[in-house]
Amino acid sequence: MKKQNLVIVGGGSTYTIGMIMSLIAEKKNFPLNSITFYDNDEKRQEKVAKATSIILDEYYPELESFHYTTDKETAFTGIDIAFIQIRTGGLQMREMDEQIPLKYGVVGQETCGPGGMAYGLRSIRDMIELVYDIKKYSKDAWILNYTNPAAIVAEALKREFPQVPKLINICDMPIAIMHSFATMLNKNIWDLVPSYFGLNHFGWFTKIEDSEGNDLTQIIKDTIMGEGFVPTDQEIANDQSWQQTFEQARKMLIDFPEFLPNTYLQYYLYPDDLAKKESLTNTRARQVINGREKRITELCNQIIQDKSTKNVELHVDIHGVYMVKAAASLVYNLKQTYIVMVENNGIISNIPDDAMVEVPALLTASGPKPFSVGKVPTFYKGLIENQFAYEKLVADAYFENSYTKALQALTLNRMVVHVPTAKAILDDLIKANKGYWPELQ
Ligand code: G6P
Ligand code: MN
Repeated sequence: MKKQNLVIVGGGSTYTIGMIMSLIAEKKNFPLNSITFYDNDEKRQEKVAKATSIILDEYYPELESFHYTTDKETAFTGIDIAFIQIRTGGLQMREMDEQIPLKYGVVGQETCGPGGMAYGLRSIRDMIELVYDIKKYSKDAWILNYTNPAAIVAEALKREFPQVPKLINICDMPIAIMHSFATMLNKNIWDLVPSYFGLNHFGWFTKIEDSEGNDLTQIIKDTIMGEGFVPTDQEIANDQSWQQTFEQARKMLIDFPEFLPNTYLQYYLYPDDLAKKESLTNTRARQVINGREKRITELCNQIIQDKSTKNVELHVDIHGVYMVKAAASLVYNLKQTYIVMVENNGIISNIPDDAMVEVPALLTASGPKPFSVGKVPTFYKGLIENQFAYEKLVADAYFENSYTKALQALTLNRMVVHVPTAKAILDDLIKANKGYWPELQ
């Protein structure tokens, strides 16, 4: 097995330590020669990197090298694979994305609704630049992107790089949900075989089977209806916000028992209830700043102070393991199945070919080979087409600098609908995102 040279773009992220623990846990399946961190925030990255260096000395002594840098050429030269996990504007801008819509009674959320649009219009430019730069210095490198809002980022990257191979967008929400299925069924998560369709943060499991082909879907539905649904991955299991989110699966199943929903559908199906529950001064970004970010900063400080991990608790999370396993399947041609984003081209036969859909695919060295889904029922087709039109219009607004397209996007979004509301939110978002967004005319 050839050892890989990996760059993590967004090295200062609160997810990086979890990713490092996942790389350590998976080192037999995805052996590394070097790890490099790249970030444009030198200070933030430095702390995570210093702690990482100590963790790696203890748990990955065979690793040839670990570096961190803010220089793209240094970061991207001679690499085999890049994981991209950036957040343009940081958690501060996430908070604005969540607060501004909420002032108008509309859900404020990282990737859904107007907040998702705002974040999308910030992410696209950086993502395009990064893909050009990585390809410039390492043209054969794989790029695994999980930067949000992944649906909009995937749509924009597809347009900018229609011919660029080895670029794949992936999200951890389906596997985080499957983690809960596996716990509920007392099964190994990697033995579950999902059938799934939709767009990113906008999809449904149609079936869950075990490795012997037994259909477990009804047991899962019955358990959720009877006992509710809870997050079980360690990273989110004790988080109140995620607990509430998972609990909504029950309500969605009662209303629409056909398929098992992705948790993000709650924002689209019950927007008013969710907007009412949120508090302007404590949206999710604030909770993450006071929660995960604080916890990771303290953890890094402790490791750096002790020059050892002896006084901290480190754990592997499903998010990291999923990305690493998917990467291994791509670079070693393992042909394992993961749920990823690909251009539709007939996979879901009754929605547009150019939609970036999220479906199970075999990950091979020549790219993802998705399984066919066939026709989806009218309700889902309608929802997906509406959402895809919104996502396309956001990308249009970016590439055409179009105010009208952005307004059309928000008007189509199920969380907004009313044009005056869309306009008011859009105008506020434009002010808040000055310097990040293209100038909309
Ligand atoms: C899941 C989603 C990610 C999203 C994250 C937000 O993992 O798949 O796309 O960024 O949740 O979690 P947070 O704890 O930051 O609200
Ligand atoms: Mn996601």
